[in-house]
Amino acid sequence: MIDLTVHRQGLAHNLKSAAKHKVVLPTFAQLRDPGQIGEATLARLAETPLSAVDPINLFRIHWHNEAKAVGGRMQAVPNYVEIPPALSGVPCRILAMAGKWFPTGCHKVGAAYGCMVPRLVTGQFDTAFHRAVWPSTGNFCRGGVFISRLLGVDAVAIVPKTMSRERFDWLQKIGCRMIATPGETSGAKELLEQTEKLREDPSMRILNQFAEMGNPLWHYNVTGTALAELFEAVKRPGQRLAGAAFCSGSGGTLSAGELLKERYPQAKLAVGEALQASVIVRQGFGTHRIEGVGDRLIPWVHNVRQTDLAIAVDDADALALLRLFNTAAGLAYLRAGLGLRDEQVEPLAWMGISGIANVLCCIKMAKWYELTENDVLVTVLTDSADLYRSRVEAMEERFGPYDAVQAERDHALHLLGQKTDQIVELTYPERKRLHNQKYRSWVEEQGKTVEELNEQWTRPAYWDDVHRQTDALDALITEFNEQVGESIR
Ligand SMILES: Cc1ncc(COP(=O)(O)O)c(C=O)c1O
Repeated sequence: MIDLTVHRQGLAHNLKSAAKHKVVLPTFAQLRDPGQIGEATLARLAETPLSAVDPINLFRIHWHNEAKAVGGRMQAVPNYVEIPPALSGVPCRILAMAGKWFPTGCHKVGAAYGCMVPRLVTGQFDTAFHRAVWPSTGNFCRGGVFISRLLGVDAVAIVPKTMSRERFDWLQKIGCRMIATPGETSGAKELLEQTEKLREDPSMRILNQFAEMGNPLWHYNVTGTALAELFEAVKRPGQRLAGAAFCSGSGGTLSAGELLKERYPQAKLAVGEALQASVIVRQGFGTHRIEGVGDRLIPWVHNVRQTDLAIAVDDADALALLRLFNTAAGLAYLRAGLGLRDEQVEPLAWMGISGIANVLCCIKMAKWYELTENDVLVTVLTDSADLYRSRVEAMEERFGPYDAVQAERDHALHLLGQKTDQIVELTYPERKRLHNQKYRSWVEEQGKTVEELNEQWTRPAYWDDVHRQTDALDALITEFNEQVGESIR
């Protein structure tokens, strides 16, 4: 469980800093159900741009923001993209919830909040002394730096040097110390090695999403609940939730699938990875181009016991589709060639590379389980194409202009051509094998104990205890807000 021991001195500093920066923290109950956010806060949100570095935007770290850059309020049903069967080639419904409408254009700011808030309200992170270190496979550090800025805390972002230009530009603009690691694309191992070096400096507080339980805690409660609400809102008579699929970086998003499995016991949960660096399906290694998706380790926070299927997605498929969905010729083909309507085509830009990979996982899953029009699969679009325009431009430069023939070919090859290859249905011994792989990365290299590793496997309540810590946290958050309020009055 997350350690909630209170450190008095740190807490006193944090209260002072929150009062200075006018920070009020949302509770998990509010993030799960933004209907609980008060009118005064909603009114302020309505006049604050979505991406403004303003503490009020902490109340937007959930899936219910209106799809508006300015003036947005809350909506009951999260924004989502439905992949029409003419596009996917499978009859089952695929719903992908959009991360574009978070303040950083990506849902990872939620995982960052989940990791930071327990440290803040207990005083374990001391805003007067500590700097926040955010090792990231992609967007977690952007979320972390955003939150750090709101709290007036110095931030260090650790990211692989091959991340898209847009991410580096964003980090530069907001202002933070940046350390680019040598690993390719997601290079989780290099990230963690670099992070370890910083640990020697006592002012550096590392918020490691691969190991911090605040990450799955946020996703289980906030992403899981939002996906269940989405399904309930759009399901048609006779339809059932057949499952969910998420590519894993830190493994945090996967815990949303655990809530879905509890609510819909027939649902299956699939983990996706990049074929070019597939650890689970192929015991492989290597580099790949699905930014944000990890490689070469099983994250500490991934509850492998709940994972039913592993799917490796070819990065070439995801990149080709990014181009199809984000070029004039591609969109013209989808409209004229496939007969898709504008409202079906326009939100395709809400899919970043890993979001497309998530949808490809769903398509492969639908074929694997022979799902029909009575089945619904859900997933998330972690970020959007906004962060990958430079990747589209690079493809334009490398392969020349895009046209209708290429668009039709890409659709046939990279979407309709998806097969049931590169999939492993995880049996009990296979799940145990994945769990055991944590020993090397986490016990030998990162100082976790064998006792806790064993507990993760043998004590199902280990994970339940984490997921249900929101009540204890909300009590601390409420008390924190009250004390800040009193000191301002
Ligand atoms: C673009 C992108 N996609 C997918 C992921 C993976 O999500 P998770 O870390 O919750 O497994 C990340 C994580 O950083 C990401 O940035």
